[in-house]
Amino acid sequence: MELGYWIGRPFWGRGYMPEALDATLGYAFDTLHKDAVWGGHYVENSQSGRVMTKCGMKTVFESKHDYFGLINEYHDDVFRIITEDRWRVA
Ligand SMILES: CC(C)(COP(=O)(O)OP(=O)(O)OC[C@H]1O[C@@H](n2cnc3c(N)ncnc32)[C@H](O)[C@@H]1OP(=O)(O)O)[C@@H](O)C(=O)NCCC(=O)NCCS
Repeated sequence: MELGYWIGRPFWGRGYMPEALDATLGYAFDTLHKDAVWGGHYVENSQSGRVMTKCGMKTVFESKHDYFGLINEYHDDVFRIITEDRWRVA
């Protein structure tokens, strides 16, 4: 499963998204029985990377100059993943 998230600017920095992501990972593994969940973020979006890191997601690769057709922009990206067995021991 791929994940993505967005929270309103007035609510940033209160730990809401790690809590929501933790609950989402629990749903993905306990209810949907998925093997793994992955997500990506722009390299410069360190706060999004922090959210995934707080929830145990590990970097698997970085990609340069990816094209996003809907917004007609190029970005470098980081991709992170957590597997079901790793979630169990975290
Ligand atoms: C990324 C996002 C979901 C983080 O959610 P959150 O609930 O603020 O997460 P946290 O409270 O755990 O903060 C995460 C990190 O963001 C940083 N941060 C917090 N408030 C910030 C602010 N006002 N400005 C910049 N960075 C901030 C901190 O470094 C924090 O890490 P720390 O706890 O180790 O200090 C939120 O910033 C957001 O919705 N951004 C816009 C959409 C987006 O970027 N989505 C992800 C696309 S891949």
